Amino acid sequence: SRLEGGRRVFDLRAQAGTHDFGRGTTPTWGFNGDVLGPTLRATRGEQVVVNVTNGLDQTTTVHWHGMHLPPEMDGGPHQLVAPGRTWSPAWKIEQPAASLWYHPHLHGETAKHVYQGLAGMFIVDDPATSVAALPHEYGVDDIPVIVQDRKFDAKGKLDDAPGIFSGVGVLGDTIAVNGTVGPYLEVKTQRVRLRLLNGSNARVYDFGFADGRQFDLVGTDGGLLEAAHRTDRLMLSPGERAEIVVTVKAGERTVLRSYPPDLGTGVFGRFTGGADSFDVLQLRASGTLSASPEVPQRLVATPRLDRADAAQQREFKFSGHSINSRQMDMTRVDFAPEQDTTEVWRVVNNDGQPHNFHVHDVQFQVLTVSGAAPPPRLSGWKDTVYLHPDETYELIMRFTDYADADTPYMFHCHVLFHEDAGMMGQFVVV
Ligand code: C2O
Ligand code: CU
Ligand code: CU
Repeated sequence: SRLEGGRRVFDLRAQAGTHDFGRGTTPTWGFNGDVLGPTLRATRGEQVVVNVTNGLDQTTTVHWHGMHLPPEMDGGPHQLVAPGRTWSPAWKIEQPAASLWYHPHLHGETAKHVYQGLAGMFIVDDPATSVAALPHEYGVDDIPVIVQDRKFDAKGKLDDAPGIFSGVGVLGDTIAVNGTVGPYLEVKTQRVRLRLLNGSNARVYDFGFADGRQFDLVGTDGGLLEAAHRTDRLMLSPGERAEIVVTVKAGERTVLRSYPPDLGTGVFGRFTGGADSFDVLQLRASGTLSASPEVPQRLVATPRLDRADAAQQREFKFSGHSINSRQMDMTRVDFAPEQDTTEVWRVVNNDGQPHNFHVHDVQFQVLTVSGAAPPPRLSGWKDTVYLHPDETYELIMRFTDYADADTPYMFHCHVLFHEDAGMMGQFVVV
C-alpha cells in the first residue's frame, strides 16, 4: 500500500494465471498473482481506498468480509466490476483490530470465483484493541493461514464438481494453506500466532494438534477475546476466522490437523465432510528459539451488547436453500433496521444440511446458544457462526454510521453453493 493525500491506497488486480498445487499445473485466478491475493493491512482511523481492477474476462465483485463500511463500498452482488474496469471503494476503518478477508460475491458465481483462487486477508490494526504481548511480527511469529480444500481431476486441473451426495457443493480431498499443499512453517520463536481463515467453499474444520497439545484461542472474526481460552480443538466453518497462539519447544515438530467436525447432520454428515480428517500445517521449531512473552490471561475489554436495548427481534429459519422460505432476489429487500438501533436475531437451522450464518457490515455477539451462554469460541465479536441443527442461536448487533435506503447489505449461508443457490437475503439500514 501507499499513502496518498492522507489516504492508504491499495491496488488489487483480479487476473487469470496458473498454479501448481503439486498435482501439475492448473488454471487459477488470483489478485496481483496466480492464486489468492496480498494481505491488506490498515489501521483504525485511516481512510482507505482499494483500486480493484478486473483483469478477468468476466464480471466479478470484491467484498470486504467482516468490515464495517457503507453498503456501496461493501462489494456485494450489486457492486459489479466489469472486465477491464476499475472499482475504487473508499471508507474509513472504524472497528477493533481483527483478521478480516476479501473475496468475490457475484450472485450465483461466488463459489466458482472463490474456488478459482480469489481471496485474501485484510488485517485491521488498532492499538486500543490489540495486545502488545501477543506475537505480532508479520511473517515471523504472526502468520496468515488461509485453509482451503481442493479437488483435482485426473489431469491435475482444479475440479469444482460437487460430490453426488454432497449437497454442499465441492469438497476437496487435498488441503492447501495459502495456496500450498503439504506446507510447513519454520518457527523461530517460542510462540507463534496463527490467523486462521477458513476460506473453503463448504468444508468445516475442527482444528487441533496431532500430539494433543493445547493452544490459546485469543481472537475470533471481529477482534480479540476478552480472555485467552486454552483449548485443544477449534471448529471453523466457511468464512470464519480465529487467532490462536501456539507454544513450541526448540527442535520439535508438531502438526496442526483437522478432525471430524460435529456438523450435527446425522448419518448424512459423512457426505458433507463430517467424517474427514486432514493434516493442515506442520510447525518445525528451530534448534534455538527467541523468547516470547506469556499469553496474557486478560486480553481486550469488550462491551457487551444488552438485550434490553434491542429495538427489534427477527427470526431466521434455514432450510431447503431458503431463509424463511424465501430465496435471494436482487430486487427484494427483506427488512430495514434503523440506524443507531440494536437488534436481536434468532437463527435456526431446520435442515439436514450444514449451514452457517453471515451478516455484512456488523460484528455481532452471540447472546445465547439454545438458551445457554455461548462457548468461548463464540464469546467475542463474530460475523459468521455455524448453525448446528440442534441449536438456536440468538445474535445481538448494532447498526451504526451508514444508513442508505437504496443499497442493501447481505445476510446468507457462507457455504458458497448454498449462497449461490439462493440462501441469501438483503437488508437496508435506514
Ligand atoms: Cu464472505 Cu457475504 O460474504
Ligand atoms: Cu461478508
Ligand atoms: Cu447452507
